[in-house]
Amino acid sequence: MTVLEGPTVRLRPFEPADYPRLISWYDDPEVVAPFDRFLTDDAESFRRSVESARTDPGSLAPRFGIERRNEGDLVGAVGHYRAHPVLELEDVWYLLGEPSARGQGIGREAVGLLVDHLFRTTAVARIGATCDVENTASYRLVEGLGFRREGTLRSALFHHGRWHDVFVYGTTRSEWAGRARPA
Ligand SMILES: CC(C)(COP(=O)(O)OP(=O)(O)OC[C@H]1O[C@@H](n2cnc3c(N)ncnc32)[C@H](O)[C@@H]1OP(=O)(O)O)[C@@H](O)C(=O)NCCC(=O)NCCS
Repeated sequence: MTVLEGPTVRLRPFEPADYPRLISWYDDPEVVAPFDRFLTDDAESFRRSVESARTDPGSLAPRFGIERRNEGDLVGAVGHYRAHPVLELEDVWYLLGEPSARGQGIGREAVGLLVDHLFRTTAVARIGATCDVENTASYRLVEGLGFRREGTLRSALFHHGRWHDVFVYGTTRSEWAGRARPA
């Protein structure tokens, strides 16, 4: 059971008691927008998708819960998935389900822990993220971790009745190893 500890955040596996809260986030368009591509019907199918993700590199299911260490409460989730059938693209995603926890650096710390973990435990040479060009919090989060904007995918994501352009971000193993860490 992998648990990743940062200064204020812990990434931990899910427990059955977490599912109602996770599902409530996914069911609330205000919470997930524009991140709304992982759909679930009920607690049982949600549990199955989280558990089967362990053996499915392409799964979009959440893989770790984000817990505040001091409060011990679950405030979000992160995931990673093989993003292309041929290219070696491992992408991360992130969600702070509790809006009151946003804007305090929790998302960035959590994603930093996940990227560290992926470079430590897999052979990937690059980790990426895609961000709706209008999702400032999402792309500023990865920029603050040293990810570089590599391009723009035009009309790549459909939500709220229209197509959206998407930024492609990435960091390489050597960039990550050499980045300045917060003191
Ligand atoms: C994206 C998300 C995870 C950011 O988490 P967070 O903990 O609030 O982010 P942080 O506090 O670590 O801040 C990261 C950066 O975003 C900026 N930011 C945070 N909220 C912002 C907002 N509402 N508008 C603009 N910028 C914002 C911060 O200022 C910071 O940038 P800076 O250091 O350059 O100033 C959170 O907003 C969220 O869950 N959004 C909905 C789900 C989503 O869009 N996920 C991303 C898709 S992969």
